[in-house]
Amino acid sequence: MSIVYLNGQFLSRSDAKLSVDDRGFFFGDGVYEVTRVVRGRLFEWDRHAKRLSRGLRELRIDAGLELDAIRSLQERLIGENDMREGQGTVYLQITRGAAPRTHHFPPPGTPATVFLSAAPFTPASEVRAKGVAVTTYPDYRWSRCDLKTVNLLPAVMAKQFASDNDAFESIFVREAVITEGSHTNFFGVINGEVRTYPNSNYVLPGVTRDVVVELARELNVPVSETPIYLHEIAALEEAFLTGTTTDVMPVVSIDKKAVGSGRPGALTMRLYEALAKRLAAAAERSPAPAVV
Ligand code: PDD
Repeated sequence: MSIVYLNGQFLSRSDAKLSVDDRGFFFGDGVYEVTRVVRGRLFEWDRHAKRLSRGLRELRIDAGLELDAIRSLQERLIGENDMREGQGTVYLQITRGAAPRTHHFPPPGTPATVFLSAAPFTPASEVRAKGVAVTTYPDYRWSRCDLKTVNLLPAVMAKQFASDNDAFESIFVREAVITEGSHTNFFGVINGEVRTYPNSNYVLPGVTRDVVVELARELNVPVSETPIYLHEIAALEEAFLTGTTTDVMPVVSIDKKAVGSGRPGALTMRLYEALAKRLAAAAERSPAPAVV
């Protein structure tokens, strides 16, 4: 039975009840984070915390909790769900709270809704060995894609388009440029150089993306935060996706046309191995969650 945290209480998932007046429900007025758990440890927690705190600040949402308190809740939840071994994810959502529906902010003092859940996770090794197909999809999202809000309708439509076409993911295209995936960042290799869209208001600053850019630099792999144009797809030697639940995932076709050899690329797999090492090392280094 899964234990969740909601507004001050740890309780079983089926007992957790949200108000129908929650602004997350009415307006998608909230932010979220998905953090990887390896052997009970939160992977790259500082980066997630920084992105969360920036999102809350930009949207003027007062979580009513310090970041350290959020971390303690996440760690307790890992324990409550018996996830001190193996891998998992922790989902966090903070909305502007429950109040009668008005577009402007609710009265001062309206408490934020804070929800956390945790689930075991198995990396998609078999899928990774073969690589995945992706489809392109128009990027009609707003121009604050840097904020991890729960307004995910374009992502839902894009990912469903991928599913309808037997693909793993859709990659968004804005003005003839590939921005990112529906729930992943996108990388391509052209002339031996790894490229991804620069961090800006048009993409989410992915935690895995930033770690992979760092790893590429450590490995002396040429890496550039330069957009990839649609007309460059034919020149891609390799391509891959990154994300908390995707790690580094080789892309072997785009809109049914093979990328490079049509098999996972060597550079892609090198970066995947480097990330896997970092995940394993993090599990040893950071403090283990308290036993509850
Ligand atoms: N998605 N781009 C978008 C639009 C995303 O939603 C995500 C994450 C990423 C990858 O970010 P990170 O490496 O920090 O996970 C990029 C999460 C996992 C989700 O919606 O479930």
